Amino acid sequence: MQVDYDALDKTIAALTEGETDAVALMATVVCEVHHADSRFDWTGFYRVTEPGLLKIGPYQGGHGCLQIPFSRGVCGAAARTGEIQLVPDVDAFPGHIACASSTRSEIVLPVCDGDGRLIAVFDIDSDQPDAFTESDAARLGGLLDAVFARI
Ligand code: SME
Repeated sequence: MQVDYDALDKTIAALTEGETDAVALMATVVCEVHHADSRFDWTGFYRVTEPGLLKIGPYQGGHGCLQIPFSRGVCGAAARTGEIQLVPDVDAFPGHIACASSTRSEIVLPVCDGDGRLIAVFDIDSDQPDAFTESDAARLGGLLDAVFARI
């Protein structure tokens, strides 16, 4: 099952209309995205809770690490650089944090509020190698902007 991003955008817009609470938005996004595509084996947010630190937010899948410093892992790299991290082979990424040994590839996107401040990162892990494309990056980035620019 491959995600239909147009349908996903519409569903998330309808479900989140008028909502501005960050955790309510994250929980809804993560549920809808996770179940939209069989490539997505772990889907979740890590929130910026203090300078240089990410803490686990709403997620779907097996348990995730509770904290990730900006200095570590793919999530840390996305938070540090403010750039989408598309990792086709996690074993080739220095400092990748393996929460599930089944993970082969992942994508992590920075999440900003309406003022452009980094509030979280959005992490999707796949058990398939090279699961994510530039098109996924663009569509997921657009989806996150549409939801989180309102807060
Ligand atoms: N893929 C992440 C960590 C895995 S999670 O905690 C599910 C990273 O290396 O940043």
